[in-house]
Amino acid sequence: MKKSPNLIFHILFLLLLISPSVFSWKKDEFRNCNQTPFCKRARSRKPGACNLIATEVSISDDGDLIAKLIPKTQENNESQDAPVEVDSKPLLLTVSVYQDGILRLKIDEEQSLNPPKKRFEVPDVILDEFLSKKLYLQWLSEEKIDNDLGFSSVVYLDGDYEGVLRHDPFEVFVRERGNGKRVLSINSNGLFDFEQLREKKEGDDWEERFRSHTDTTPYGPQSISFDVSFFGADIVSGIPEHATSLALKPTSGPGVEDGFSEPYRLFNLDVFEYIDESPFGLYGSIPFMISHGKARGSSGFFWLNAAEMQIDVFGTGWNAGQDKIMMPVDEKRIDTLWMSEAGVVDAFFFVGPGPKDVIRQYTSVTGRPAMPQLFSTAYHQCRWNYRDEEDVFDVDSKFDEHDIPYDVLWLDIDHTDGRRYFTWDKVLFPNPEEMQNKLAAKGRHMVTIVDPHIKRDDNYYIHKEASDNGYYIKDASNRDFDGWCWSGSSSYTDMVNPHIRSWWADKFSYGNYVGSTPSLYVWNDMNEPSVFNGPELTMPRDALHFGGIEHRELHNVYGYYFHMATSNGLVKRGNGKDRPFVLSRAFFPGTQRYGAVWTGDNTAEWEHLRVSVPMLLTLGLTGISFSGADVGGFFGNPEPDLLVRWYQLGAYYPFFRAHAHQDTKRREPWLFGERNTELIREAIHTRYMFLPYFYTLFREANMTGTPVIRPLWMEFPAEEETFSNDEAFMVGNSLLVQGVYTQRAKHVSVYLPGEQSWYDLRSGAAYKGGKRHKFEALEDSVPAFQRAGTIIPRKDRFRRSSTQMGTDPYTLVIALNSSKEAEGELYIDDGKSFEFENGAYIHRHFKFSNGKLTSSNAAPSGAGGNKFSTDCTVERIILLGLSPAPKSALIEPANQKVGIEMGPLTIRHGNSPSFLTIRKPKVRIEDDWTIKIL
Ligand code: NOJ
Repeated sequence: MKKSPNLIFHILFLLLLISPSVFSWKKDEFRNCNQTPFCKRARSRKPGACNLIATEVSISDDGDLIAKLIPKTQENNESQDAPVEVDSKPLLLTVSVYQDGILRLKIDEEQSLNPPKKRFEVPDVILDEFLSKKLYLQWLSEEKIDNDLGFSSVVYLDGDYEGVLRHDPFEVFVRERGNGKRVLSINSNGLFDFEQLREKKEGDDWEERFRSHTDTTPYGPQSISFDVSFFGADIVSGIPEHATSLALKPTSGPGVEDGFSEPYRLFNLDVFEYIDESPFGLYGSIPFMISHGKARGSSGFFWLNAAEMQIDVFGTGWNAGQDKIMMPVDEKRIDTLWMSEAGVVDAFFFVGPGPKDVIRQYTSVTGRPAMPQLFSTAYHQCRWNYRDEEDVFDVDSKFDEHDIPYDVLWLDIDHTDGRRYFTWDKVLFPNPEEMQNKLAAKGRHMVTIVDPHIKRDDNYYIHKEASDNGYYIKDASNRDFDGWCWSGSSSYTDMVNPHIRSWWADKFSYGNYVGSTPSLYVWNDMNEPSVFNGPELTMPRDALHFGGIEHRELHNVYGYYFHMATSNGLVKRGNGKDRPFVLSRAFFPGTQRYGAVWTGDNTAEWEHLRVSVPMLLTLGLTGISFSGADVGGFFGNPEPDLLVRWYQLGAYYPFFRAHAHQDTKRREPWLFGERNTELIREAIHTRYMFLPYFYTLFREANMTGTPVIRPLWMEFPAEEETFSNDEAFMVGNSLLVQGVYTQRAKHVSVYLPGEQSWYDLRSGAAYKGGKRHKFEALEDSVPAFQRAGTIIPRKDRFRRSSTQMGTDPYTLVIALNSSKEAEGELYIDDGKSFEFENGAYIHRHFKFSNGKLTSSNAAPSGAGGNKFSTDCTVERIILLGLSPAPKSALIEPANQKVGIEMGPLTIRHGNSPSFLTIRKPKVRIEDDWTIKIL
């Protein structure tokens, strides 16, 4: 039989994909800036190239500052040295201000001048609540800046800041009121450029070719670029996702390191075996940058735009000798260049001044992280693939045999019937409901994968409905786009359409998703979207979405919509009662409202363990606090010591999941000999012990945006020593964790910030802050310390899963500072439902001072009538740093005396040094009480 060329191509392609040796990163498959016309054009512009000025400045009826941006003409071009673009039309500029010192700048074509089409503005990201916080600009003053001949318009921002629109040359900046110090600015280097849409003229060649792909680019060039300056900044961070350091390295100008001469790319891509230390763009994109500096603190800049973006960070001195720079040259600052292929300018300036303020401001626009279900904050076991039900039961029971808790078992693509999502392989998984129920009986959950590529098979109900109803993304010729992914020939549902999202959400009802039960949750993978035979392994840019929007305009937001639709589906299936859990690989601003993300296909190498920390810290800084990296590394086989170190570090990731590629050797925790099993068990136990603390931190993120894990500089903003430290991190404000990133390490150097001491979690020994210490690298844990002055709630009894710990008593660890004081918090709710939104939760504040521990209510008064209650008590209170040793304590109001004894730091380490312990004070966790040391 003669095989069709198409079939041969597909077979070859499949072979290529499943052979591990070809998984390594193929640079050539992806465009660099020079091969990306808009990036090349923008990068070649020189400072001062922008010749726009702001005219017709006024306050609109909506309370915004509006103006027109027009090129200087011969008459208004006083210096006559800027190039004059004759055929460009005025652009419309709008400045709005919002509560909490937020300035929003929009620039678009004037619709009244009938541009060839309306540019795409990303809907469904900005919260309505934020929009309702707009302030009506009533006051406007005019002043001269520097030696300008003309005036600038000044608007007042909430707080101690002002926004300035400089008319000529055009520039927008935020400054401190009073001293006039600049915070953030746009176009101070005159790099602003807005390629206006125009009708195609004869002879115009707009097509863009890359490898075997041609992008028809029917609307021609439409990119936007501009410079943004961060004043007083020592570092800039953010703009995930890249496998690189937390403090972004320069990509242009002096000081560019090897491998960093490309801009940071924001274009959601499925990159096999990505390399660490690269500005190359990975699976998700968040065009939000945060700066930090000793002098001023933090500021942030966010550009809401879903097209491909490229961002340069300039090395200091990049523009030396240029005379067209409009700002005080002697001020410390970091300049950046932002370039996007399409869309509009919709930019937000956040004034800070602290790092937590910036994140609060940013998440007030894009949303706070969702409150996860408790089980999802515990340990997850995944592999591509757990083969069949027997395999599932075997793994499940081995966890019990080895006394290792876990909460979730995951099924990858091969659990389905031929990679048709929402189905089960009938031979391998004949009784999915029974399987889930068996695990659920131990308080465990399962997760199945649901990807966006839909197998083009007329007998597959999802495909049938989607194709009959026209729900697929169309190619440039308006036919259903047909690409190649895990399922073979596939199409992609158009999640940009709310109607299609709602249809998709309904697919998760128990009736529709046959074999699913309430303990089943979902994993969204490949949602960049990944298209194996597409340009750069993704959807062609000229593919068409709902409303005629080109894929190029919204590429980076596609995965977000898919995640949103899935997450809404899980809410819907339980009639809105239970919180969803959906893990997504692609992300965009706002993703934090829908679930967790992970850092995709990393490799079992020490460098990938190391880079996981800056990657997760960056996600946290940009709103996505629920994130993790595949523990063990997805590709390759980790040496046992790498695996152990990964578990020890991963136990502190907000999302803690082990995962492995199908070609790797099995690596469940008990497969590496007794000692390694013991070490991994210990690491996982550590996570379970700290679950009450983690859950409290998830609630803090949910309320304020402050991430669960944080760079040291977020807690110690004035300590320069911490600015480039991304090997250690804070879990909340109380724990500092340092990874061990080399094989057979003998020592680890740890910088402990601040003036107070730190207590080693294992030995309880105190170490001075504000110093670097050299510790012996112990086999049984990575260095971790509790900050003096904090109280951490724990649960020290070990069960099979977090669900089974519900009624277990608490341990409070009080680490006293030099004034013999400490404080901490505990948040508890039912771990599952949305009732906490109606006030059904407990929030305690613990304070130790003057020899007395007090537990008081930290919930705002009048928080809901719908109370959550628990019978949990406190079983132990450990006191670190108290001397001389007291003998007893008095509990009030019970008026009961209890003895103070010496005890181990954790129950399982009976022979570790002893510390002052109040055993069985038996106070209820939800009550007000005091314990006075006698
Ligand atoms: C790619 C994902 O990143 C990986 O985690 C998964 O195992 C494979 N797709 C197969 O679904």
